[in-house]
Amino acid sequence: MSQARAPVDRDAPDFAAIRARFPGAQDKVYMNAAARGLPCRESRASLDAYLDKLTDGRVDKAANFGMIERVREKYARLINADSDEIAFTKNVSDGLNMIAASVPLAEGDNIVLCRNLEHPNNIYPWLNLGQTKGVEIRDIPDRDGFIDVDGIIAAMDDRTRLVTVATVTFAPGFRTDVAKLGAACRERGVFLLVDGVQSVGIVATDVKALKVDALAVSTQKALLGLYGMGFIYCRREWAEKITPAALARFSVDLGEGTHEATMGGDSYALMPGARRFDLGNYNFPAAAMVEPALDLLLEVGPAAVESYVCGLAHRLAAGLHQLGLPVSGGPPGPHLAHIVTAGQYTQDTHDGAGDADTDALYNYLTENNVVLTVRRGMLRFALHVYNSEEDVDRVLDLVRGWQDAQKAA
Ligand SMILES: Cc1ncc(COP(=O)(O)O)c(C=O)c1O
Repeated sequence: MSQARAPVDRDAPDFAAIRARFPGAQDKVYMNAAARGLPCRESRASLDAYLDKLTDGRVDKAANFGMIERVREKYARLINADSDEIAFTKNVSDGLNMIAASVPLAEGDNIVLCRNLEHPNNIYPWLNLGQTKGVEIRDIPDRDGFIDVDGIIAAMDDRTRLVTVATVTFAPGFRTDVAKLGAACRERGVFLLVDGVQSVGIVATDVKALKVDALAVSTQKALLGLYGMGFIYCRREWAEKITPAALARFSVDLGEGTHEATMGGDSYALMPGARRFDLGNYNFPAAAMVEPALDLLLEVGPAAVESYVCGLAHRLAAGLHQLGLPVSGGPPGPHLAHIVTAGQYTQDTHDGAGDADTDALYNYLTENNVVLTVRRGMLRFALHVYNSEEDVDRVLDLVRGWQDAQKAA
């Protein structure tokens, strides 16, 4: 009797064909998206075309602005926002600081965060407000590597104006329960600002469902683009209550089709929504680079990207755990996104683990063409759409081989 075959899903994304579009994924195991993602061939071609025009002196400014508006719309679509709720930034820090400088905060107000697990770029903006405005910073300890959402909610009071968290931490890389926090913040009228750089582009993100008020990202990691560009989402209701701390021509509404060098009167209307945070001219090369990546991610679909990439991360975490490595969070579970870390969590080491075994394994993997990083004393593997089961199994084989050699020595 012939065996029943699983039906072929003709609509399923062809991840092998997608991988073929990434030159950097062909000759190595690239698991470093938490630091920098790989650009695809189409991004490189788009950047080259932009630079060719610039070099040739044939810049078409109207076409460049057209590209900016397309990219704005694609950013919005990726997180279920409206285009008017997106402004262009340089990076995450720029977006976080725009909000920190613009949301009304007075002496004695407080903001709540988890310093242990935030990137320094989401701590200094608040220390600055502490110093300059007398805003109180309420620091909630982590709970076994998780941002303690219940602890944050318990710490809020009637002087809490803002809460900030990473959607996925850069180490140990666990997901934060943003939906629970969003509901609690919205109920209390507290501004929820998230650092989404370690999730947007991989983890499907719906800012409306999550009840997020603002989200900051940059394009060099999960968005597979260049350094020097990011975006900020700010919910329309909030954005239109905010007067930006910095202002320039593109923040001001002089009517459709007016030239960028047109100066209006001394009283002016701000642009609708988050567009009021746009300042001067844009990082056009970075927009040219990120647009094909956005096309790819939107074409596959955020849910399919998340399920594929996080499925690979589960396979890696399960395999490393079985091999006896101290995988953060233990066996894979709902805490896991696309980042798998292993080792002893330490606050202060980055380039080396500060632990001989972890450093030796890192060096062995690197010598064998695996690209990863050490963060907070741990090996950090971060996957994306260009990775495959073969990549994961190659890493597991290498770890097994290294362990066997250690035992034999
Ligand atoms: C969670 C997180 N936030 C922020 C950053 C960096 O911020 P920026 O884009 O401002 O350099 C990183 C990594 O570099 C990060 O992992």
